[in-house]
Amino acid sequence: MSAHATAEAPSTAPTPEFCGKYHFLLRRLHSLTGILPVGVFLCFHLFTNFQMLVGNFQHEVQFIHDMPALLFIEIFGLWLPIGFHAALGVVYTFTGVPNSTAYSYQDNWRYTFQRITGILALLFIFVHVAKLRWGWTFGGMLDTPFYLSGPNGEPLAKATTAIALQHAFPLAAIMYVVGVYSCVYHFANGLWTAAITWGLTVSVAAQKRWGQVCTAVGVALAIFTAGAIYASLTYKVTDQERAMVAQLEQAEASGASMEAPAMPTH
Ligand code: HEM
Repeated sequence: MSAHATAEAPSTAPTPEFCGKYHFLLRRLHSLTGILPVGVFLCFHLFTNFQMLVGNFQHEVQFIHDMPALLFIEIFGLWLPIGFHAALGVVYTFTGVPNSTAYSYQDNWRYTFQRITGILALLFIFVHVAKLRWGWTFGGMLDTPFYLSGPNGEPLAKATTAIALQHAFPLAAIMYVVGVYSCVYHFANGLWTAAITWGLTVSVAAQKRWGQVCTAVGVALAIFTAGAIYASLTYKVTDQERAMVAQLEQAEASGASMEAPAMPTH
């Protein structure tokens, strides 16, 4: 993260015509929601997924699903803040003036890349949520189910995640790599610009130091992501796990109630 970006803070501001007198407030809220709750959630989510490689993924996912008022937390703690950040982000993206072609400074490229990764993150998050929470299969392209547990409570979170990535290989894996790494870059770079937005890093030296912290955060999240994808692609799904998934799918198709899958599936 270099010192050129001191010029970035004013240039990233939304057009006053659009935001009018709320420009300052909206800019602060956009910045805040990008970090809390969205960015913090991203960190927890990627760390949980990393447990597929190094820990007890089933336990972590179960913990989340056992949280009281999960839907309420999701709506007010995640979907609305992401929706707000994304909606304003789209406006900023299409009303900002990137000048990466005129000045090939690293910071101008980062400005443009922040917007590109924002749009990619939006598309990815939409597909991810639509598939895992609303059960969309996108015309059968993403048709593997996710089950937390089998008919008798057997752990299935890792196996069904692995099936999803392996079954649609390489499409699903590419989608995860592009989508999650876009989120990671966007968040790490956003952390850096947010400190300017909030007036926390005024000097070039402070921006450099904070840049090192943001880079470390980005690298850690990138490692968590690589670990989770590697664990999913290399996990050997057993015949017993496949049989349980088939059984749950059959029961779902026939409307019979077995040990309920923890999430809307497919
Ligand atoms: C994983 C989800 C996301 C996270 C964690 C996140 C986080 C952040 C953070 C921390 C910032 C820095 C704010 C600042 O400089 O004050 C930011 C900026 C930005 N975000 Fe996001 N964001 C996410 C998704 C999105 C989406 C879906 C869009 C939609 C296009 C988007 C568009 C933008 C734009 C355009 C900026 C730059 C705003 C500016 O500097 O004027 N973001 N984001």
